[in-house]
Amino acid sequence: MNIAIFASGGGSNFQAIADACADGSIPARVVLCVASRPEAGVISRARAMGIPYTVIDGAAGDWGVRLLTVLHDRKVDLVALAGFMRKIPPSLIEAFPDRILNVHPSLLPEFGGQGMYGMNVHRAVIASGRRISGATVHMVDEGYDTGPVILQERVAVRPDDGPEELAARVLSVEHRLYPSVIKAFSEGRVHREGRTVHIRPEH
Ligand code: GAR
Repeated sequence: MNIAIFASGGGSNFQAIADACADGSIPARVVLCVASRPEAGVISRARAMGIPYTVIDGAAGDWGVRLLTVLHDRKVDLVALAGFMRKIPPSLIEAFPDRILNVHPSLLPEFGGQGMYGMNVHRAVIASGRRISGATVHMVDEGYDTGPVILQERVAVRPDDGPEELAARVLSVEHRLYPSVIKAFSEGRVHREGRTVHIRPEH
């Protein structure tokens, strides 16, 4: 299975997935990194791993249509969004039905939606007084963080947590959760029935 990872930031999830593919834990290859801006830290990670990358020019028209040629050329089977701060255009969603995944740093549907990304999420969780947050991996649809949930894991919010402390704890869960979902995908163990996603056990 060939994977393209889309990212806008530091790319620690990109690294976790690419490492798991490189060491054989996931039977798949990361064949492309798509960055939303030329300064994204993920680009140096892709370079260091010898993974081809491209920067989308989101300013002009439907960048999804332009990117489709690249995704087809690289024979991409699965798109993994990893801290990608742009909405995916309908053209891409149509071309990859149930084949675009995202990781989100809260227990969706709580603390999702437009404007809820990165540190904004953790600030909102702490301001709400919740004692539990977490990470979600879900399929991407046309909405903001509204696609079917695949897997979630809870993370405790400690009384003295600031957004950075909570973010770090959630991120380390993401680094385990996201590769495990991608592994299940690459082994053909993920099936959707309506809004319910089933993951068959490994054996
Ligand atoms: C991650 O925490 C991810 O869940 C979040 O951005 C961070 C990216 O970190 N994504 C969102 O908020 C999407 N709505 P990374 O660049 O180190 O992988």
